[in-house]
Amino acid sequence: MKSLVIATLSIVIFLLSGCVSEPPLVNQYGTAVPPLPTLDSSAVLRGKQIYQLHCAMCHGGNAEGAVNWKVPDENLNYPPPPHDDTGHSWHHPDRVIYEAIREGLRDSLRPDQPVRMQSFGEKLSDAEIRAVLTYFKSLWSREHREFQYLRTTEDEIENPTPHAP
Ligand code: HEC
Repeated sequence: MKSLVIATLSIVIFLLSGCVSEPPLVNQYGTAVPPLPTLDSSAVLRGKQIYQLHCAMCHGGNAEGAVNWKVPDENLNYPPPPHDDTGHSWHHPDRVIYEAIREGLRDSLRPDQPVRMQSFGEKLSDAEIRAVLTYFKSLWSREHREFQYLRTTEDEIENPTPHAP
């Protein structure tokens, strides 16, 4: 009788522990990746300060983007998008966001047009750009962060680059 109680309890504990433990993260290439890293809070703070100085005037004080960010102007250029959960920055792997900040954005199909966003490679160090990226990550829901984290691990397989942060 006692062993039956112990056996039943063990099963219940086993089932409960299965509920609380996180499922392992696997990207679309079937590669198991380490758990979502905790963000370095000092990098988040530093990134926020850099963002306020260099980016907030266009992308908004809380990275909420321009009010009309989905509406292109007469030259078919889009206003600055948000970098919080409501935007699409979290769709991109680290490398793409990092390169957009370092290199700026231009329209490759319309090279005669003015740049869509200036490059910050001269103004900001690699560590400062990475800190801004960390600040953006702190604005995303766990679901979006996990998506972007997996996307980054997939991109590292697709585009191995020495510049990836
Ligand atoms: C003068 C205005 C301006 C400033 C300042 C500015 N941006 Fe932008 N940014 C834009 C515009 C406009 C776009 C959209 C370009 C497009 O999609 O055509 C953009 C796009 C981006 C994107 C691409 C987003 C995506 O999902 O594709 C990133 C990342 C970005 N900005 C980050 C930054 C960061 C970080 C800073 C500060 C270091 C910054 N921007 C400063 C105007 C600005």
